[in-house]
Amino acid sequence: MSSSLTPQRPGMHARQISSSSFAEEFNAARSKLGDLTFDDSDTELGSGSDSAGGSPSLSSSDTEGACCSPALSDNTPPSPVSPITTPLTPITDPDVADNFAFAFDIDGVLIRGGRPIPEAIEAMKVLNGENEFGIKVPYIFLTNGGGKFEKERCEDLSQQLEIEVSPGQFICGHTPMREFADRYGTVLVVGGEGETCRAVAEGYGFRDVITPGDILKANAATAPFRKLTESERSASRDLLARGGRLSDIVVEAVFVFADSRDWASDLQIMLDIAQSRGGRLETRSATFTEGPPIYFSHNDVLWSSAHEHARLGMGALRKMVETVFEDTSGGRRLRTHAFGKPQVSTFEFATRLLQQWRAAQHGLAESEPPATVYFVGDTPESDIRGTNAMNDKSRHTEWYSLLVKTGVYQAGTEPKYKPRKLVDTVLDAVNHGIRREMAKLGSCKKTGGRLLPLDDAAMKAIAEGRTPNFVTKAGPFSDP
Ligand code: G3P
Ligand code: MG
Repeated sequence: MSSSLTPQRPGMHARQISSSSFAEEFNAARSKLGDLTFDDSDTELGSGSDSAGGSPSLSSSDTEGACCSPALSDNTPPSPVSPITTPLTPITDPDVADNFAFAFDIDGVLIRGGRPIPEAIEAMKVLNGENEFGIKVPYIFLTNGGGKFEKERCEDLSQQLEIEVSPGQFICGHTPMREFADRYGTVLVVGGEGETCRAVAEGYGFRDVITPGDILKANAATAPFRKLTESERSASRDLLARGGRLSDIVVEAVFVFADSRDWASDLQIMLDIAQSRGGRLETRSATFTEGPPIYFSHNDVLWSSAHEHARLGMGALRKMVETVFEDTSGGRRLRTHAFGKPQVSTFEFATRLLQQWRAAQHGLAESEPPATVYFVGDTPESDIRGTNAMNDKSRHTEWYSLLVKTGVYQAGTEPKYKPRKLVDTVLDAVNHGIRREMAKLGSCKKTGGRLLPLDDAAMKAIAEGRTPNFVTKAGPFSDP
């Protein structure tokens, strides 16, 4: 732990226990986690085939020589009973699917440019029981997006999708970064609107958060063409308030929480720190090998927003940081880290959160994972690649990847990572999954519990959106 325990300047907050209910839920879920590792020091990861059709799959061993992100410790004391584990303990709802569940990407699947994709509202209704089988299906949300407290993002999503979304079923790109709050003192947090990400980081427990705005306020020459507005200036922290110098400040790690709102100055400031002597501001390393670690909450080069065509995302900024570093440090390579999808560890964590959510919300046994998780995404490079890799790794659960045409993936093109199923919208994805499960169940019922492989007729029926004719009476999860 660095010397940042001795206060360096005003505005350094005493450590607070994070207040967001999500933090408690997250802690409870995580206290059940084994070691998590994020291993993405080199974006081009491995080539091997997976069950979904020969697309390259993820394997951590491909990053030899690259430094992996530090293991996330799970020895934090379990937090007090989280609100979604004990109080609820509902009785097992007979109409709730106990052997399958859904996990949803957000941008390009449910939301575009802040507005709900119409079929998404329908899809949620179907999952909550408005379907021909009268079943309810558990679901969680797994987005690479971020830039707000999880709780706030859930409130937005609740309004957009006209359902109640709980932090207990929601993970965003920077959620795992809270693990590092104890590990570092002074950190630079980049991205998002205004100073929101500073607040999120402090909510996670980071004690000394500075932002690019603070550095620009202290030294406007840092980015010659970037002028802080009056409100930005007043929202930024005064790093020199105690008569200190910028070079008194040592940044121990850089966290890119959300998409940058000013790539030029953020790029400049991250490069300055990457080329500094051990993170000390305003210094230059002679070897360009002393910079602190840089963590990106995800690696999406493209993402789907209001524009007709996909927009550049954080992964593009990451490439720029690494490329410009190489060009300006005599060819030295900069290894940065990325969280989020397609990292298998992100899907492993999602599995834990899903287990906890199914138990707390539906009274299902937390120890019994669902046989199948249908993951619906719009970006082959993150959603489909990650789901297929998780499917390869998971021993208990089949991770079934569904690609929609409402986001990054362009219909008629060949996705680099092949989904198990390509559908038009999230509603088609939900109907496909439910019918596939009903068909399985139907065949199971016909054979007195043995699951019959789905014959061509059944698969044809499902593909045509029809229900194969061996489904029996409504409420199939309740024993006859
Ligand atoms: O910035 C977020 C974006 O890259 C992707 O978000 O919800 O599609 O994972 P999502
Ligand atoms: Mg998406």
